[in-house]
Amino acid sequence: MKLLLIGSGGREHALAWALAKSPGLTKLYAAPGNAGIAEIAELTSLNVEDHGAIIDFCHAMDVDLVVIGPEAPLVAGLVDDLEEAGIKAFGPSRAAAQLEGSKAFTKGVCDEAGIPTAGYGRFSDVEAALAHVRETGAPIVVKADGLAAGKGVVVAMTLEEAEQAVTACFEGSFGAAGAEVVIEEFLEGEEASFFVLSDGTNALALATAQDHKRAHDGDQGPNTGGMGAYSPAPVMTDAVISEVMRRIIEPTIKTLAERGTPFKGVLFAGLMITGDGPKLIEYNTRFGDPECQVLMMRLESDLLDLLLASVEGRLDQATADWRDEAALTVVMAAGGYPGSYEKGTEIRGLTAAGKDDVAVFHAGTKRDGDRILANGGRVLGVTALGATVREARERAYASVKTIDWPDGFCRSDIGWRAIERETEG
Ligand code: AMP
Ligand code: GLY
Repeated sequence: MKLLLIGSGGREHALAWALAKSPGLTKLYAAPGNAGIAEIAELTSLNVEDHGAIIDFCHAMDVDLVVIGPEAPLVAGLVDDLEEAGIKAFGPSRAAAQLEGSKAFTKGVCDEAGIPTAGYGRFSDVEAALAHVRETGAPIVVKADGLAAGKGVVVAMTLEEAEQAVTACFEGSFGAAGAEVVIEEFLEGEEASFFVLSDGTNALALATAQDHKRAHDGDQGPNTGGMGAYSPAPVMTDAVISEVMRRIIEPTIKTLAERGTPFKGVLFAGLMITGDGPKLIEYNTRFGDPECQVLMMRLESDLLDLLLASVEGRLDQATADWRDEAALTVVMAAGGYPGSYEKGTEIRGLTAAGKDDVAVFHAGTKRDGDRILANGGRVLGVTALGATVREARERAYASVKTIDWPDGFCRSDIGWRAIERETEG
């Protein structure tokens, strides 16, 4: 099969790497890709926002399946447009991608299906929103409704912070995403990510992971896209996974199907495991980045077969097998990220770093002749397997040390939560 992969992050490099192992793959194109993806795919400089150009490319190159990594093209309806043109695409329709595109939409689904989630209110008026936070008090969570690249959420520990967040939202800090504000009950517990494939009717559990959102050690500093991850997440025991499937995932899939907007693709549930059981924090409608890197490292099954089973409605016959080992990824980012950072600095030592159960997934990189240059905020995801999270972490950091990139930085404590458990256990 000929595939076109859309995206340019570490997630897409990991997807390309896993797809390249499939005997069914005959040709992989990627748009726009990065220097790592270029080693296994042919890059094309298509404008991802130009759906007509993507359709023309697929027809010209006989592409059999388009795999979409990031959320923006999903929310923009790329899957709908491809399907209308007779081209198979992996991922949800525009309507189903509202599970990620609109927090208010997801809350509506939770209400309709009785899914456990944080109590909330929706406000399109600043005074009403302020009155609500003053009445409820802190801690409290303030969220811009739409897509705000992960920056639209403030977990306010004081009333003052909550008021500032509400005001900032309505003053347009998040652009159109902040026209409506969702104010939520603060959930206390341990966070975990859970990934499921759906074909619109069936849901197949994939695997669990934990992310590290803050930029610096000890979970300090600003929020980022994710500075590292590991899989599996020890807090997600088999009992918790079955409860999540039964009380959260299956009712979501059923509700979207009943509404006539079935969900196909990867459903990524952000969960809080509270004293009162698992609760849904949010949905994403794609693989996580860097969670995808650890998932692909552990996946034993043929990724292409799984994606096709989702597209073709055959997930009831599919299984996903995983290595028992843990995988851990350390993100190397450009100095200054998530604030302003430099592009174009040279990275050396990549070949030596990626061996013996270690994969170095590229995110923001580009090739310049023989040189690999940093070309984004998150630049590399050094990913290793190990019998335990501790072992995977040792291997990943040993490999990080061999990468010569003075302008980059990484956290030094990825996996701390799981390792603490391993040590206690
Ligand atoms: P979101 O973009 O909705 O994933 O929110 C970003 C982060 O804010 C989450 O990963 C949580 O760490 C935190 N968060 C979001 N909602 C809540 C909540 N209701 N209670 C506690 N923390 C939350
Ligand atoms: N790492 C979090 C995300 O992909 O949304």
